[in-house]
Amino acid sequence: MQNFISINDAKGEIKNLVELGEKLKKEEQTQTLLKNKTLGMIFEKASTRTRISFEVGMYQLGGMALYLPKSELQLGRGEPIADTAKVMSRFLDAIMIRSKNHDDVLTLGKYANIPVISGLTDKEHPCQVIADLLTIKEYKNTFNLKLVFIGDGNNVCNSLLLAAPEVGMDMTVACPKGYEPDEEIYQQALKTAKKTNTKISIEHDINEAVKDADVLYTDVWVSMGDEAEKAKREEIFKPYQINQELLNKANKNAIVLHCLPAIRNQEITEEVINGPQSAIWDEAENRLHAQKAILYTLLKD
Ligand code: CP
Ligand code: NVA
Repeated sequence: MQNFISINDAKGEIKNLVELGEKLKKEEQTQTLLKNKTLGMIFEKASTRTRISFEVGMYQLGGMALYLPKSELQLGRGEPIADTAKVMSRFLDAIMIRSKNHDDVLTLGKYANIPVISGLTDKEHPCQVIADLLTIKEYKNTFNLKLVFIGDGNNVCNSLLLAAPEVGMDMTVACPKGYEPDEEIYQQALKTAKKTNTKISIEHDINEAVKDADVLYTDVWVSMGDEAEKAKREEIFKPYQINQELLNKANKNAIVLHCLPAIRNQEITEEVINGPQSAIWDEAENRLHAQKAILYTLLKD
């Protein structure tokens, strides 16, 4: 793996990343693993988990991370991405970027000669999904189960769709019409599913979707950048809420995941987010362990 911009960059390595995350979670002595390595973290959007987990992760591995909001870089004043990539490659060992535009991250990856990691774009959120899989593994000890993603077929959903059939997990996307995942990604997931004998589907009827579900997953209805559609989305997504009544229709020991941040009483209720079936806080912690696995895989000598 040279970059981690898409789940596709880790094809065949997804389970290894998860296992390494599990291992690093138990390991106390990690300070020499990436001694003196440096990570530049460009942020064009807000972040709590991604920023903190990468920064703390680098520190715990013996390296350091630089927080670089795009608005404070010359990149924010129009310096070309290619020039930024070339210059940053002279100073740093890797770049993490959270960007509005997936193509900008691909351009950065093309011109940088150090690894580039996506910390979320409009298209994917690959690092999140490694933490999600780590959480599923901890709770269920297998991927041979059914995950139902409920809500907006956006970045998080797209990365889950690419990963699920690769690790042998069935996945149904329950979304309103018009909010399906990226068509190309969905077609690729269907193709992989054929090879790995897994089931991938889109279902608009939420009650139908959650039947036999082992994992219910949701994300905000209004992602960063979608604010202009807030009122419209809040209306359209109303039936797509994870509440106790819906959770009762899934398998008895189903767990609930959410990438966070969460909006209570929209995509999820307070009762579920802090209820006995919630794995959400462990999932958030696992961002740290997953980042360390990703960083070590890309940066080890
Ligand atoms: N889940 C996630 O990426 O959270 P942040 O936006 O806080 O980084
Ligand atoms: N889909 C959300 C994920 C946040 C981590 C967004 O893009 O805002």
